[in-house]
Amino acid sequence: MNVAVLASGTGTNLQALLDRVHRREGVAIVAVASDKADAPALDRARAAGVPASSFPLDQFADRRARDLAIADWLASRATELVVLAGYMQLLSGEFLGRFPDRVINVHPALLPAFPGLAAVDQALAYGVKVFGVTVHFVDGGVDSGPVILQRAIELPDARDAGEVLERLHPIEHELLPEAVRLIARGAVSFDPANARRVVIER
Ligand code: GRF
Repeated sequence: MNVAVLASGTGTNLQALLDRVHRREGVAIVAVASDKADAPALDRARAAGVPASSFPLDQFADRRARDLAIADWLASRATELVVLAGYMQLLSGEFLGRFPDRVINVHPALLPAFPGLAAVDQALAYGVKVFGVTVHFVDGGVDSGPVILQRAIELPDARDAGEVLERLHPIEHELLPEAVRLIARGAVSFDPANARRVVIER
């Protein structure tokens, strides 16, 4: 399965994919794209010999044109699954239509709680005692698509977002490669009785 990764930032989740699933179990990361020309994620891709390209908004007429350019590039690399790994832009409906049920995202909260930006800050402000990570399909909303994998961690005394993220990152680095592995194996489907419910064949 040819996988493309979109990332805006440091790319530790991209690194986990490169280290744990790339060129294994029938998975190949074939492209890494970013909205930011200086995203460290692009360097990680190049270091692993994976084609990397940036698509800054100011080089396009608008977001729609940018998304179409990304979609065209990914399609030219025969992409079958798009993984958002810290990609900080919303994707247009047209982009999603090019990869139906084939775009996934990792989010540092137990969705549907705390979607959107600064999820850990939201969770801390709410005072939750249990934090977690969600890997989900991407639909037209903000972090609203069907859940593939989730894992919780109890941090009853947490006060600092940086410290919580430090605990969540290793979980993300396990769950995201696991989701890619499962999809590549054909083990992920939708419950015919409830399309929101993802069924995993283990
Ligand atoms: C992760 O915390 C992920 O949950 C969120 O963006 C962050 C990306 O981190 N969507 P990194 O760039 O992979 O280190």
